[in-house]
Amino acid sequence: MCDTVSIAIDGPAAAGKSTVARKVAHALTYIYVDTGAMYRALTLKTIKEGADLSSEKEVLEVLMKCDIQFEQTDEGQLVFVNGEEITKEIRTDEVTRHVSAVSSYPEVRIEMVNRQQKMIAGQNVVMDGRDIGTKVIPEADLKIFMIASVEERARRRYEENKRSGYESDLEVLMEEIKRRDDIDSTRTASPLVKAKDAVEVDTTSLSIDNVVERILDLVNERVKTR
Ligand code: CDP
Ligand code: CDP
Repeated sequence: MCDTVSIAIDGPAAAGKSTVARKVAHALTYIYVDTGAMYRALTLKTIKEGADLSSEKEVLEVLMKCDIQFEQTDEGQLVFVNGEEITKEIRTDEVTRHVSAVSSYPEVRIEMVNRQQKMIAGQNVVMDGRDIGTKVIPEADLKIFMIASVEERARRRYEENKRSGYESDLEVLMEEIKRRDDIDSTRTASPLVKAKDAVEVDTTSLSIDNVVERILDLVNERVKTR
């Protein structure tokens, strides 16, 4: 029997997964793993090395040379590749544009899932991504499928950009989110789908704190009281 607890949070872009997952992990004193940051780190590194993003072989070669690490700090989670801190760089528009193509390569996914499973072995964890409940932790104690309308998700990204100091175009953001969701949901290797045993949480009209409370309630109902 497994005596650690794992919570898997999946869903489309900008549904609030990482913000909520981080807070839930903090409240439960579990570790938090943002798997999207790993695919972003690989995309950034592939671009920086001038490797061909359209070649699975080249992308995989880059991945095999990348040691991706996380560090939890009071200000949030830092992301490192081969010791270099790249937390902000992985969020650029260029990385966002290419990340879904890089993530669709089957061999890349096998390697990433392997690393993710090793990373969480023996730990209580909240992990978010696209294939956590279906592939990375199919035996997770609680699976959440987090959704929100595409209009609301684009609005959230717009506000997030504004807080970071730059104006973006809401229509462009919405199209980019739709394009990425489409690639993520239709790829052959572990596409974004709701696991059969996942609880769907629609966050369209919920605040971050409301969503965190809802998930902590689910943990109390379904995990701790078992
Ligand atoms: O922008 P957002 O926070 O929604 O995305 P992310 O979680 O940083 O993930 C970026 C991209 O990585 C996604 O659009 C997927 O293409 C890919 N990804 C994946 O394929 N599998 C995961 N477990 C996590 C992310
Ligand atoms: O990880 P994912 O792409 O699913 O979303 P996120 O990066 O956690 O959240 C996207 C943006 O939506 C962030 O700026 C959050 O602060 C915001 N958000 C919100 O306004 N209301 C929620 N219920 C959840 C997130």
